[in-house]
Amino acid sequence: MSRVHTYEKAFLTLGAILLVVCLAVLTYSSAMMGIHLPDDVGITIDPTQVLSTPPFDNVGVHPVGDNEYDVVFIGQVWLFRPNEITVPVGAKLNFIGTSADVLHGFNIEGTRVNMMLIPGQISKNTYTFDEPGEHLILCHEYCGVGHHTMFGRIIVE
Ligand code: CUA
Repeated sequence: MSRVHTYEKAFLTLGAILLVVCLAVLTYSSAMMGIHLPDDVGITIDPTQVLSTPPFDNVGVHPVGDNEYDVVFIGQVWLFRPNEITVPVGAKLNFIGTSADVLHGFNIEGTRVNMMLIPGQISKNTYTFDEPGEHLILCHEYCGVGHHTMFGRIIVE
């Protein structure tokens, strides 16, 4: 009897410790490391009018300041617009994306650029490439039968 009680107590203690550790990790990652849900979730767009709504009526790389560029793109079944992006090394890049239909992902291989493209919302992320090279852009949210064919390329030069 007392043995069972001891185990119960041990498990309860373990459970409580794990809960506190998980909450601490969550708090630390959101408050100190800036890890959070996709940025600017409040910015909305009519998903049926994406192609004619600025800035998405003019996708691509646009200079906006001293060594700073907006990279405007759209995810749709089953490609990215534009499908190939060329950017300068060392420049501040403001990725601005949305979806024209269903939920897509935008993940630049080998970087922390990992965005969700949500119909009706505009996602933003900022990144600077330190080295020239080529990276795959992958859709990492299942978006239908052509999901596995949905990829693009970013060339840093
Ligand atoms: Cu788009 Cu998966």
